[in-house]
Amino acid sequence: MKRDLLTILDLTKEEINHLLTRARELKQIHHQGSNHRPLEGKTLAMIFDKPSTRTRVSFEAGMAQLGGATIYLERGQTQLARAEPLADTARVLSRYVDAVVVRTFAQEMLEELAHHAAIPIINGLTDTHHPCQVLSDLLTVRERFGNTDGLKVAWVGDGNNVANSWITAALRLDFELFLACPQGYEPDRGLMAQAARENRPVHLGEDPEWAVSGAQVVNTDVWASMGQEGEAEARKQVFRPYQVNAALMHKAAPDAIVLHCLPAHRGEEITGEVLDGPQSAAWDQAENRLHFQKALLEWLLE
Ligand code: CP
Ligand code: NVA
Repeated sequence: MKRDLLTILDLTKEEINHLLTRARELKQIHHQGSNHRPLEGKTLAMIFDKPSTRTRVSFEAGMAQLGGATIYLERGQTQLARAEPLADTARVLSRYVDAVVVRTFAQEMLEELAHHAAIPIINGLTDTHHPCQVLSDLLTVRERFGNTDGLKVAWVGDGNNVANSWITAALRLDFELFLACPQGYEPDRGLMAQAARENRPVHLGEDPEWAVSGAQVVNTDVWASMGQEGEAEARKQVFRPYQVNAALMHKAAPDAIVLHCLPAHRGEEITGEVLDGPQSAAWDQAENRLHFQKALLEWLLE
């Protein structure tokens, strides 16, 4: 049976652990310069509706390093832009390639594509989820702390796609998640309700200091995500108290790391001092996208 990765909830705890262990092995193989090309003859299509640097390049480079090929498709340049049904596109791509990564707006678009495709569909970011990001962030956290169990992870800022994916990760793994989001910018209600039903340690409040206090991992992201550019100015006013800066980091655990999925706006959601400072894990975090995508591709395609 084909597997999709539309949200982290598509994976069991054991599968997440397997992927993270494998990603670490692939990182070692990569740094040793060893040849490892299990995906020769395989092709990954990538349909992108939004800009991307890390996701696109890590999937393309990862696939090339594993011996496979990629085809990058801007949605506007495909027949989808001329109203060819998603179902037909899914059926046709299933005859040509081995998996598809999609970056788009509505999660439902991905679900429909996955429903009609005979090949794995991977979420490369939607308005509501960014599973590959948070799965590779878990790799960064495990590299720094050995494990994710028992850690306090803070999210400061917008209850967006990345925040939602952290909630799904907390539904599967054993860390505590504290989210501080302004009123009206909370993460997905359905996921919060699921966390409450399943008795998971996912806590939502409005105070950044409460969320960050004693945390080992402090996360933030832009205040206006792709597609929300028109709200950027209004959001700057609302989110100003949610900046991750040196004063806020003083509340965190002394060995705390800061994560930012990037791109970042220095002086808005995070100061340059923190992003470029010793507690920032953002550059390892960006690198780990590559190793995680490779583990995922190997698992889905081999
Ligand atoms: N973090 C992330 O997904 O970056 P890109 O938008 O550059 O792919
Ligand atoms: N929340 C951001 C993440 C970018 C990688 C966005 O959706 O634009």
